[in-house]
Amino acid sequence: MTQLGNDQIKGVVKERYGALARSASEASSSDDCCGTDCCSTASSEEALTLYTSAETQDLPAEALAASAGCGNPTALASMQPGETVVDFGSGGGIDCFLSAKAVGPSGRVIGIDMTEDMINLARANARRLKLSNTEFHLSDMEDTPLDENTADILISNCVINLAPDKDPVFREAFRILKPGGRLMVSDMVLVDDIPEDQAADTSNWVACLAGAEKKETYLGKMRDAGFAEVEVLSETPISGDDGWRASIRSMNIKAVKPGS
Ligand SMILES: C[S@@+](CC[C@H](N)C(=O)[O-])C[C@H]1O[C@@H](n2cnc3c(N)ncnc32)[C@H](O)[C@@H]1O
Repeated sequence: MTQLGNDQIKGVVKERYGALARSASEASSSDDCCGTDCCSTASSEEALTLYTSAETQDLPAEALAASAGCGNPTALASMQPGETVVDFGSGGGIDCFLSAKAVGPSGRVIGIDMTEDMINLARANARRLKLSNTEFHLSDMEDTPLDENTADILISNCVINLAPDKDPVFREAFRILKPGGRLMVSDMVLVDDIPEDQAADTSNWVACLAGAEKKETYLGKMRDAGFAEVEVLSETPISGDDGWRASIRSMNIKAVKPGS
């Protein structure tokens, strides 16, 4: 259990990612791209390795500069034209823009983020891309303004670990997915406990380390919310995995809301 309060955690997360959004909004279309603070491991080179150059070549520098994920859930979600995608913790919008391409003009993409500067950045990036099928909402992912049974696919990239309580996140994901809808999450997950002092350090929270849940607990929370076919697709040690950080993995996890 963390010694940090939920409000304190959300406050430092908003502060940190607000700062990243403001700095990314000043990125030019020069060679300088990709965030340096993505979750724990980031360097611009590592952020770039999450995506192929074919995926990133048409995206604005301001979207790449805010990239702070630990996977590429869109690439794993088998999106089809016309589908509706929701992204929990959409940041500067990178995964929404890739999803918008995958579902096409007849589809719909909805980004959710609790940090105002990130939402402003994502909206500006959507205007740069002249996207008509993508929208961004300022909201906690635990309690969104979306109707139930809205989405065919829910993606999230290195965000759920930042939530002080994961149960309401998975309950909300379940609520807004249609029956038969797919959940595709990239996230930081623990394979062993981390020291209490590291877990209580807010800089480790905003770096997507201290809030990581034990793997079986995380998967159990997905099942408790009602998800079926919960499956870890891949599990990768984070870089600089010496000491207590060796307990942390970046994972791609899929699940399905039962029904059709
Ligand atoms: C590590 S960044 C990842 C951003 C994006 N998914 C990407 O791959 O670039 C985490 C983002 O999640 C947002 N976030 C964290 N907790 C949230 C919550 N409870 N509800 C909504 N957004 C949240 C932050 O504001 C931030 O933009």
